[in-house]
Amino acid sequence: MHAHAPYSGFGVGAAVLLDDGAIIAGCNFENASYGLTLCAETVALATANAQGRLRAVREIAVIGGKLVDGQITGADPVRPCGRCRQVINEAGGLSGHDIIVHCASADGGTVERHTLSSLLPHAFGPADLGLA
Ligand code: THU
Repeated sequence: MHAHAPYSGFGVGAAVLLDDGAIIAGCNFENASYGLTLCAETVALATANAQGRLRAVREIAVIGGKLVDGQITGADPVRPCGRCRQVINEAGGLSGHDIIVHCASADGGTVERHTLSSLLPHAFGPADLGLA
């Protein structure tokens, strides 16, 4: 993983699984203007979109932790932030699937399996704009 996280010292990796088994990876990309930081999930999903594969997204896995000597560490799973949940929801709406979200700890000791609908109930989506 090549997280660019010199400000938080917290590295996050995300891997998107497509319907044909392909995997698209992303990692967090911080900025000296802190608020411009891109989360790992968003980077991975934007890459899927750039490849025209957003409708093929079925699952996403997230892992991360405090960076020590360039490696993520820790025993707590990383769960997508609120903004990332909304971004995942965009892919789920296009794919017609309730995206599976795996949340892992850096030490590999914990892996949770969630559905996006459980992480983001009553999501805002195209239907709210009269588009679905
Ligand atoms: N981060 C992610 O990449 N994904 C999340 O879902 C939570 C947070 C990143 C953003 C920032 O670079 C660092 O973790 C600390 O917040």
